[in-house]
Amino acid sequence: MNDGFEPSHSGSKSLYERAMETLPGGLSGELRAAAPFPIFIDRAEGARKWDVDGNEYIDYSMGSAALLLGHSHPAVVEAIGKQAGKGTLYSALTPLEVEWAGLVRGLYPSAERVRFTGSGTEANTLAFRLARAATGREKILRFEGHFHGWGDDTSVGIKVPFERPHGHGILPAVDAASLLCPADSASAEEVLAANPDTAAIVLEPSGASWGTVPLPDGFLEDLRRLADGSGALLIFDEVITGFRWSPGGAQALSGVTPDLTALAKNLTGGLPGGAVAGREEIMCLLDPAIEYKGMRAGVFHRGTFNANPLSAAAGIAALEIFKTGEPQRRADELAARLREGMGRVLTRHEIAGAVYGPSSTCHIYLGPVKRNGSIEGLGAAELKSIPPARVQAFQHALRQRGVDFMSYSGGVTSAAHTEADIDKTIDVFGVVIEELAGAGALDRL
Ligand SMILES: Cc1ncc(COP(=O)(O)O)c(C=O)c1O
Repeated sequence: MNDGFEPSHSGSKSLYERAMETLPGGLSGELRAAAPFPIFIDRAEGARKWDVDGNEYIDYSMGSAALLLGHSHPAVVEAIGKQAGKGTLYSALTPLEVEWAGLVRGLYPSAERVRFTGSGTEANTLAFRLARAATGREKILRFEGHFHGWGDDTSVGIKVPFERPHGHGILPAVDAASLLCPADSASAEEVLAANPDTAAIVLEPSGASWGTVPLPDGFLEDLRRLADGSGALLIFDEVITGFRWSPGGAQALSGVTPDLTALAKNLTGGLPGGAVAGREEIMCLLDPAIEYKGMRAGVFHRGTFNANPLSAAAGIAALEIFKTGEPQRRADELAARLREGMGRVLTRHEIAGAVYGPSSTCHIYLGPVKRNGSIEGLGAAELKSIPPARVQAFQHALRQRGVDFMSYSGGVTSAAHTEADIDKTIDVFGVVIEELAGAGALDRL
């Protein structure tokens, strides 16, 4: 790309060349890939981050949505610093995890008991295991495009074509235990009726990929009814929605209480970790003092870093702030301003697409729409299959101008963004849209 990016990012370029010698693809996770090469970050604060070449970015990735308070929030940094001086891992219980679980229980209607895990993927894996153990059934009903981590159980259904596993190396029998259907109540009802051995229904209560594909009205209520009617458990994957949609996540907001909840990201104040929260009678299968079907504990779960003191300390500091509801209110307000401003840009340039999203998210769809500015009538397959070249060109053009989104489909705001950040981003978006439209890379209305 001959747009000045390489000279102004020479430090990242040379680090990428070195990374290629030790890390597969130069990366520690496939989502971090970028063309012509990824940027390497040196530091971050509030809503900004700076790369190794000193370039500044307004960040809408925010630790893959884990940093609702922004980077390096003083209360979180202080909690981590204090705890680090007292030790980072004891292989023993700490008062911190009791306090942390108590905070979760106070906010989440489903959280009679909490078990901490090492990540969001682990939280979902454990939730599925608990559901299978509790019901004695095998299948997990999932929805097209909904993401629940990189575990074996959830390899199908992430990308278009949804029926195909996302990568090799997973036993076909594991894939076969996943039932996949479009996120509509009639389809879910049909699949459940045909599969009486369904242990659980799991979904992102935001809709697929943190709201990229919104759910139909009443879907959460319908799933609660279908789960109750079929004897399957209902699992909310609140890894993204947790603490962000409201202090008590999507469940407190919607009034629909799942049997089990997967949490991560903001749970830990942005440090590594996760948790499963749920009904006591299910969670007690993790209790080694209780015999279940001839085994103690009935469900096997371990983890060196579960509830590690650093994540617990950061989590407590963050949750004390989240429970006020103030960071959520502020981030939501800023995201609404961003969506509105970016939507105006599309209208002004007569570009087909829409800017949308709930809570503190901002999703961008650049493609043919049935109604200007709306994704009405577009399904998961359309919303999740934007041409990769368009994605790359768009992300790159924004990054070149100091704005870093989470993925093509958008980003999240934090309580640390300001109106000035948002307005600058809208201006940059305008320049990028004009440039891409001029190059014939976007659809006109
Ligand atoms: C909804 C959802 N579930 C699960 C996960 C996996 O969490 P982790 O990356 O902590 O394993 C993610 C990660 O982005 C997610 O967005």
